[in-house]
Amino acid sequence: MSRCRNMVDLGRRQFLRGSALMAASATVAAAGAAPQAKAATPAARVEYPSNRLANVSELKLNEPLEVTYPDPDAPGVLLKLGIRVEGGAGPDGDIVGFSTICPHKGYPLSYSADSKTFNCPGHYSVFDPEKGGQQVWGQATQNLPQYALRIAENGDIFAEGVDELIYGRLSNVL
Ligand code: FES
Repeated sequence: MSRCRNMVDLGRRQFLRGSALMAASATVAAAGAAPQAKAATPAARVEYPSNRLANVSELKLNEPLEVTYPDPDAPGVLLKLGIRVEGGAGPDGDIVGFSTICPHKGYPLSYSADSKTFNCPGHYSVFDPEKGGQQVWGQATQNLPQYALRIAENGDIFAEGVDELIYGRLSNVL
């Protein structure tokens, strides 16, 4: 019986010695560790160019004018809708601009003047330019990228940003 008790005591001592050693080595490691360098969070902001796309006088009601923005490889259109819409520019608040690459798989969109929608021949997604490019039907998982427009006093239309990622890009500005 006393032999058993001795074994238990021995076990306790060994456990305590082991714990003390571990605590000591942790203290040494912490004291000697170099301060952790914290990676800086990359800025998500993108510097968009301010590009003149057209003049108000070139727009015809409900007829898309082909443009490119923010670079020549990014096709889009300007459109005068004839009714004031959210995000619309110009004296009547009815000029909008959109990328015409479908955000689903990159097919080129066409505009239907009858239904006032952008339509995709790939898998038939439909986008509404009066509602900020909202997808009203289809496969895409985001709305149509819309330009931030500024109209100068002489009627020149400048694009100065895009509100969604253009299909196929990791950044709208390459
Ligand atoms: Fe437009 Fe698929 S590419 S819906």
